[in-house]
Amino acid sequence: MRRPLGVTVSRHIMDSQRLHPKATGDLSGLLNELIVAAKTIGAEVNMAGLADILGMSGKTNIQGEEVQKLDEFANRTIINRMARSGYLCVMTSEEEDDIIPVQDGYTGKYTLAFDPLDGSSNIDVNVSIGTIFSVHRRVTASGQGDKRDILQAGRKQVAAGYILYGSSTMLVFTTGEGVHGFTLDPSVGEFYLSHADIKTPERSKYLSINAGNRPYWQQNVRDYFDLLGEYDPEKDRPYSTRYIGSLVADFHRNLITGGLFAYPRDSRNPDQPHGKLRLLYEASPLAMLIEEAGGRAITDDGRNILDIEPEDLHQRVPLIIGSKADVDEAEEFLS
Ligand code: AHG
Ligand code: MN
Ligand code: MN
Repeated sequence: MRRPLGVTVSRHIMDSQRLHPKATGDLSGLLNELIVAAKTIGAEVNMAGLADILGMSGKTNIQGEEVQKLDEFANRTIINRMARSGYLCVMTSEEEDDIIPVQDGYTGKYTLAFDPLDGSSNIDVNVSIGTIFSVHRRVTASGQGDKRDILQAGRKQVAAGYILYGSSTMLVFTTGEGVHGFTLDPSVGEFYLSHADIKTPERSKYLSINAGNRPYWQQNVRDYFDLLGEYDPEKDRPYSTRYIGSLVADFHRNLITGGLFAYPRDSRNPDQPHGKLRLLYEASPLAMLIEEAGGRAITDDGRNILDIEPEDLHQRVPLIIGSKADVDEAEEFLS
């Protein structure tokens, strides 16, 4: 059912729920709670330059990365709100080594994996950053969940999305019935439907890749992206390059305009033989979104991201994601 632009996200969620008579409203409640957390993070992001919230927290996370104050603020905001929402049985976050329990007495039937703030390197330079989230249904019976509830293939997600703190704050998510974008009106604190049923163009317009890693890619990956750089009028190539170092922002632009984002594995960092991006809270949710929008997401050896069975909370995967025609070609070349 196509809803009129301008409908609020709460109304959109309620209308979607009405289409499923057996729905208990728990997924709707989960999304609404997550939206409140996102608004809180967005408000902090928008005044980060003023509130002594820029810069490093002085800590490093399990990824070995320096944790920014805003990373920590976003992480705590989501954990504190969602742990007592009553909709979750367990969570995992980029910023937490192990699984995160929910508050006793508040266990629910879903799980949440999230990147509280994606694009951290851009926080201090006022470039768009975002929060990425992924929701699964629990597989254990009741009570506090465990890793079995979290380590599920992307194909089994019930919802996935992101909040992009950019020139405007946008919420983009899917529950398996199309991808819908909502823009925040900060004067009233309400998200309004601004992009109904987003479909990504069949062919890319942009290529998003960190060319600085080229010497470290595998030979066939180097050959493939060299091929993309050659003149090919039939495919309107070479594409323009757009890469700003925030996955969520690069992904969003490519979703709307058509684009190919790639972060192949590289030998630059021996600790990260499978590339930099994480499966559970970066590649998997974006893969659900792009497939719902008519695109595709694979690894740099041709596996579908959504079919990967996770083995570790912070498992990394090489990622090639975007317009279908381009990902199909990449799959053929790299498989
Ligand atoms: P995060 O800030 O959550 O650690 O993610 C950063 C990721 C992703 O957002 C971006 O695409 C990528 O790191 C950029 O990596 P490079 O700077 O190596 O290109
Ligand atoms: Mn990230
Ligand atoms: Mn992050």
